[in-house]
Amino acid sequence: MTSRDRFLKALRCEALPRPPLWLMRQAGRYLPEYRALRARHSFLELARTPELAAEVTLQPLKRYALDAAIIFSDILVVPEAMGLPFLFREQGGIEMAFTVKSRADLARLTVSGAAKKLHYVTEAIGLVRARLGNERALLGFCGSPWTLAAYMVNGGAGNNLEALTMMFRLDAKLFRELLGRITAVCCDYVRMLAQSGVDAIQIFDTWGGLCSPEIYGEASLQWIRQMVAAADGQAPVILFAKGKGYDWRALAEAGAAAVSVDWTVDLPALRERLPLTVAVQGNLNPAALLADADGARRAAESLLASMAGRRGFVFILGHGVRPETPPENVSVLVETVRAWTSAPRAK
Ligand code: CP3
Repeated sequence: MTSRDRFLKALRCEALPRPPLWLMRQAGRYLPEYRALRARHSFLELARTPELAAEVTLQPLKRYALDAAIIFSDILVVPEAMGLPFLFREQGGIEMAFTVKSRADLARLTVSGAAKKLHYVTEAIGLVRARLGNERALLGFCGSPWTLAAYMVNGGAGNNLEALTMMFRLDAKLFRELLGRITAVCCDYVRMLAQSGVDAIQIFDTWGGLCSPEIYGEASLQWIRQMVAAADGQAPVILFAKGKGYDWRALAEAGAAAVSVDWTVDLPALRERLPLTVAVQGNLNPAALLADADGARRAAESLLASMAGRRGFVFILGHGVRPETPPENVSVLVETVRAWTSAPRAK
């Protein structure tokens, strides 16, 4: 069975002796070969040059027998295409060129044709697919409208994290206009990704946890649902929602093939609660890869054992690989997951 078949079978909740494995931020600063390229090019140069984006995407696949590649880009290319640029601060974190606070700011954002500016991503996808063939799966991704709005309204980390929630509560009309515009661009972009030949599209709702559970449906999930509809069954959608205060059934019912969770969620319990038409993806703590290799192996085995024989399981970290991760620990993780076999459970 190819890695790509394994990945697609897991999303369809078919029985497998071991789960497929990939990592969020599998290409990035923990790899010396990434840092070497970054020393010569800015992040945006790497992301906007299809040959370079393809090379970075493939870096972790050359080192490790991962089952899927994720195209090298960022969720913030969407606001950037709408006319709101960002930069990565030297000391880490994001800085947006301006924040959206009023109708006048909203008027500065482009919707029509914005997604087309992201053609460099689909070009990079074409190059990666040509090199990977059908051996391994390839993912595209997009931020959720709520999470993108969090950057556009709150600004980067360290800024006022409540500004978007305040807009939702105090100026519902402005909130809906903003989210409607972002969603329109995200839907165009998802259509482009789905047609570019990716095997799945991950939607990152990294800041979904800023919503209290009673507003999540209106503030975030309704816009995500439109993106899932835009994929139109051409590529399965994986929905990553960070945190644990969600109505998981409502997320599962948004139409995604899989729900992806962080390490604060009890994954076997989530698997029990969701129907076997929706896969779960998760959720090793990225911190488990920071210390000794033996600890990394034990943590991976414990998650594998807890999910042994269950259908509809994709193994991933609960969040991105941290830049300080020793690359050897990722090898140990990959070896541990690949060596695992378990018989399917009755249910
Ligand atoms: O390998 C992959 O996973 C694909 C590449 C990828 C990046 N960003 C590259 C990146 C993906 C899938 C993302 C998604 C992303 N970007 C999310 C959602 C997932 C998550 O982490 O919650 C978010 C919230 C962002 C926004 C973002 N990009 C932040 C907050 C930062 C700065 C923090 C940091 O890690 O430095 C980035 C920068 C970024 N995106 C880097 C990479 C490799 C590091 C930039 C560098 O090389 O200088």
